Amino acid sequence: MDYIKVNRDTWNKRTDLHTQSSFYNIPMFKNGRNSLNPIELALLPDVKDKSLLHLQCHFGQDTLSWARLGACVTGVDLSPTAIEYANELKQNLNLEATFIESNVYDFDAINQQLFDIVYTSYGVLNWLQDLNRWAKVIANSLQAGGTLCLVEFHSFNELLNGYSYFHDSEPTIEEEGTYTENCDGTKSKTVTWSHSISDIINSLIQAGLTIESFDEYPYSPYDCFEGLEYVHDKGYQLLHKGHQVPLVFSIKARKGC
Ligand SMILES: C[S@@+](CC[C@H](N)C(=O)[O-])C[C@H]1O[C@@H](n2cnc3c(N)ncnc32)[C@H](O)[C@@H]1O
Repeated sequence: MDYIKVNRDTWNKRTDLHTQSSFYNIPMFKNGRNSLNPIELALLPDVKDKSLLHLQCHFGQDTLSWARLGACVTGVDLSPTAIEYANELKQNLNLEATFIESNVYDFDAINQQLFDIVYTSYGVLNWLQDLNRWAKVIANSLQAGGTLCLVEFHSFNELLNGYSYFHDSEPTIEEEGTYTENCDGTKSKTVTWSHSISDIINSLIQAGLTIESFDEYPYSPYDCFEGLEYVHDKGYQLLHKGHQVPLVFSIKARKGC
C-alpha cells in the first residue's frame, strides 16, 4: 500500500471540510484572531524577524498566525489542497509566507534555507512512520543555535483511546471520519503509527539536538477526543478514575553551535 498517497487523499478531503468548520473558524481568523494557543506562545515568546519553518502546517492558520507576530514563515504540508488553501488565505490577508507541498521526509532534498525555528504541532507525529528520519529533517533544517518547538497530543491518551502506546512497525489502518464538528459521516482511510514519548525524545537526541524542556499538560486546547470536559479558562480535560490524563506535551530542543 502507498501509505503516503492514502493519507494525502484523506487530508485533501479533510481540508475541504475543515475550511468550512467552526472548529477552525476562518471568518474569525480573517478578522484578526490568532489561532495559536498559550502553550506554544509561551514556548516561543519572541518570533519577530525570526525565520520559522512550520512542518505539517495543514492549511496554514497557525503558520500565518506566527507571521502576524512578525516571523518570516515557511509552511510545509503533504496535502496539495491544504497548500492551495493556505496560499489563498495568505493572499486574502495580504500576509508574507511561503507554502510548500512536500512530504516531510522529502523536504530535506528541496530545502535550501536554514531556519531559526522549526515548529510543528497537534496531530502530526502519528502520520509519520519513521521518527529518526523526521528528526534528521528537523536538525538539517535548523541553523546552529536554532530551536525546535514541538507541541503534540500525548501518546498516553492514545492508549486510553484503544491504540498502542509503543511503536509497532505495522501501521494502524482505519476508515475514519474527521475531528471537526461538521464531519458529515464520510469516512476515509487513514494510516497511522504510535510513538512512545521515549521514542520521540530519543529520535531528537540521536539527530544531535539538545532537549531544553519537556512538559506535560492536563488540558487540551481542542475538544477533539471523546469524553473531554471544558474547564473555564483552562481548556479540555479528561478524567480517568478521578485523575487528570496528560493530553498534550511539548518539547523545546536546540541544535548545537
Ligand atoms: C492534524 S493536521 C496538523 C494540524 C495543525 N496543528 C494545524 O495547523 O491545524 C496534520 C497535517 O499533517 C499533514 N501530513 C500528514 N502526513 C504528512 C507527511 N508525511 N508529510 C507532510 N505533511 C503530512 C496533513 O496533510 C495535515 O495537514
